[in-house]
Amino acid sequence: MKIHRRSVVLAALAAVALPCTRAPLAAQQAPARAVRARVDSLLARMTLEEKVGQMTQIDLPNFLAAGAQSPDSVRLDLQKLRTGIVQRHIGSILNSPGSAPTVKGWNGLIRQIQDVATRETRLRIPVLYGVDAVHGVNYTVDATIFPQNIGMAATFDSALARREGEIVAAELTAAGTPWNFAPVLDVGRQPLWPRFYETLGEEPFIGRRLGRAQVEGMQASGHVAVSLKHYLGYGGPASGHDRTPALISRRMVRELYLPPFAEAVRAGAKTVMVNSSEIDGEALHASRYWLTDVLRGELGFQGVIVTDYQDIIYLHTRHHVAATLKDAVRIAVQAGVDMSMTPNDYQFADDLLQLVREGTIPVSRIDQSVRRILTLKAELGLFDRPYPDPAARAGFATAGAREAAAQAARESITLLKNDSVLPLRPGARVLVTGPAANSLTALNGGWTYVWQGNDASRFPAGVPTILDAIRKQSADVRYVPDSSFTELGDMAAVTRATAGADAAIVVLGEDAYAEGVGNIDDLTLPESQLMLAEAVQATGIPTILVLVEGRPRLIERVAGRARGIVMAYWPGMQGGTAVADVLFGRVNPSGRLPFTYPRRPNALTTYDHRFTEELSTGDGGGATGGFDPQFQLGEGLSYTTFAYSDLKLGADTVGLADGVSAQVTVRNTGARAGDDVVLLFTHQQYGSLTPAVRRLRGFQRVALAPGESRTLRFALAPEDLAFVGQDGHPVLEPGAFDIMVGSLKATFQVVNRGRSAAVRAAPQR
Ligand code: BGC
Repeated sequence: MKIHRRSVVLAALAAVALPCTRAPLAAQQAPARAVRARVDSLLARMTLEEKVGQMTQIDLPNFLAAGAQSPDSVRLDLQKLRTGIVQRHIGSILNSPGSAPTVKGWNGLIRQIQDVATRETRLRIPVLYGVDAVHGVNYTVDATIFPQNIGMAATFDSALARREGEIVAAELTAAGTPWNFAPVLDVGRQPLWPRFYETLGEEPFIGRRLGRAQVEGMQASGHVAVSLKHYLGYGGPASGHDRTPALISRRMVRELYLPPFAEAVRAGAKTVMVNSSEIDGEALHASRYWLTDVLRGELGFQGVIVTDYQDIIYLHTRHHVAATLKDAVRIAVQAGVDMSMTPNDYQFADDLLQLVREGTIPVSRIDQSVRRILTLKAELGLFDRPYPDPAARAGFATAGAREAAAQAARESITLLKNDSVLPLRPGARVLVTGPAANSLTALNGGWTYVWQGNDASRFPAGVPTILDAIRKQSADVRYVPDSSFTELGDMAAVTRATAGADAAIVVLGEDAYAEGVGNIDDLTLPESQLMLAEAVQATGIPTILVLVEGRPRLIERVAGRARGIVMAYWPGMQGGTAVADVLFGRVNPSGRLPFTYPRRPNALTTYDHRFTEELSTGDGGGATGGFDPQFQLGEGLSYTTFAYSDLKLGADTVGLADGVSAQVTVRNTGARAGDDVVLLFTHQQYGSLTPAVRRLRGFQRVALAPGESRTLRFALAPEDLAFVGQDGHPVLEPGAFDIMVGSLKATFQVVNRGRSAAVRAAPQR
């Protein structure tokens, strides 16, 4: 009823809402004159075949010699390679040979490719090599492996995300592979989605901050180009299955999915990879609106747009928006694609050639794309230095890099429940069980050495699992193995082993998967794992659940009786030690949940929901409560306590163009040093479109000694207060706004002082 009455007020407010401008942003710099000259001169000499070749990317396995490969020496079939590079003029090769080579193996592989490209082709254009380094350089033996992005998001540590980017770039440069298909900037709005773990969580503001930091770090040396992926709306499939349609309005795409990409474009991202799926019936690879009008026209992106794997073909075979393969090529290129990850034949090049010859696609359109690709190669220095630099090997897997990954793992671990059970005292007698307790594949997840991340034989010796690391903290550890994630083990042995133990650590979750292989139809943790937890809990022993998983598998049945719940995500190689250090108190946990952890299968409402979604409408005994997740975005406990005070705003009344500043004091009121992550939320009290209950608009990680306090300052720009209006543009409406930190709240008014033109254009924010 209340909500209905309020809407009357809104009509008046809407009249003064201020749409921002639609002018394209000069977000990215034009190439340097020397680069332009080199590219112009090449382009003038290229044949049409050479041009469409540059737009073609082929998967490495097509060039591998038959038989087994060794990590130190990747053997190529030189005849096939020459067909690709010399005869078909391909511009790019991607992927790993199927299993991870060493740095030496990568160097040798790149040398063979560049030998052919720079010595045997007419114009000596080097090949651009692309790989997926999504949580460290994960396709290289002994590389530094970070937590998956969902864990990086839980750190809320932008400086560390930038450092991750720098380390990834140094290790890619050591390997000799300059193009990274990362960072993943998809927004994780659908927890069933098997790529949820690759995202920076459900709130695009986290993706904006951490994604920008990753891009800046990766591109800082100038030797590596990022590929923002997967543009756009990939993270919200209605079915939860990979590569299935998202049903999102264009307005909501701009509100929720576009901001991290827009921010990363502004940070200078050199390439973008397209989402394999569709938004509201529009296949992204066929969308001139999203690829050209928005990405180039509005966001000012100047770099290369690459398709995802085989996706032009899929416009015909899966999406059914192209009647033939050739028409799929026409549609994609006219939509704005520069390079096709074809990637297993030359059909794309042949069709494109024909389309130009018959006049369907003008040569000028081809020149645009080839210019972008050659510019990228020139800016990466490939014309002058096509070969891996042996000196760069010194930057591979350094002790400092390993420590950064360990820090990331420690900062990510999120303590979700602690009923006076943690930390365990050093030497505590513990039972350890559960399928993820002694597994390196589950600790690292997909995209680790192999695509699926599930080949345990590839992992380096000596990396501690959670069990190994716990054994370093206590001499009395009983382990009852349970190697299956879906089958019940020996329950009697587990319950017997609880006798005389102080606590049970039950390590549950998911083994590694990637992409569609990880599709599920039920978010609930597999029955066998719930039964294992219940059997342990039934003995009465204090039970700690450790969750090692790529997405929030539902645990309501066992959460209530758990004395402690620790969320580890997929924390990477250093994760075993990080988890054990948190359990035994060597590390004070400081991760915060970067998404909403659902309680029930069909209650997947996100934290930034509407007020109507909070209403409890249950009648007749129906359990239809309002928003009631298992855990909220931002939750995360510590072994110390923090108190917030003195939330103050820079002004009580601000103009539409002013933004607002806020400060808050945080104090460590406990007895231990610890990091707090201070989260600042905003809320527009009334709006012409229903406002979200809260939006995250600021975060800072701060380390505090016992008794220490710090005053943190936040600056919010006008666009941080705006929402995307029906016309797709940000609107900042006059009225009352709240700023919330913890349980503190301060209110200010936005007023129209007649300076509307000064509201900065930010259609992408
Ligand atoms: C994935 C991309 C990846 C590409 C190349 C695709 O299947 O969707 O994320 O970059 O393969 O490996």
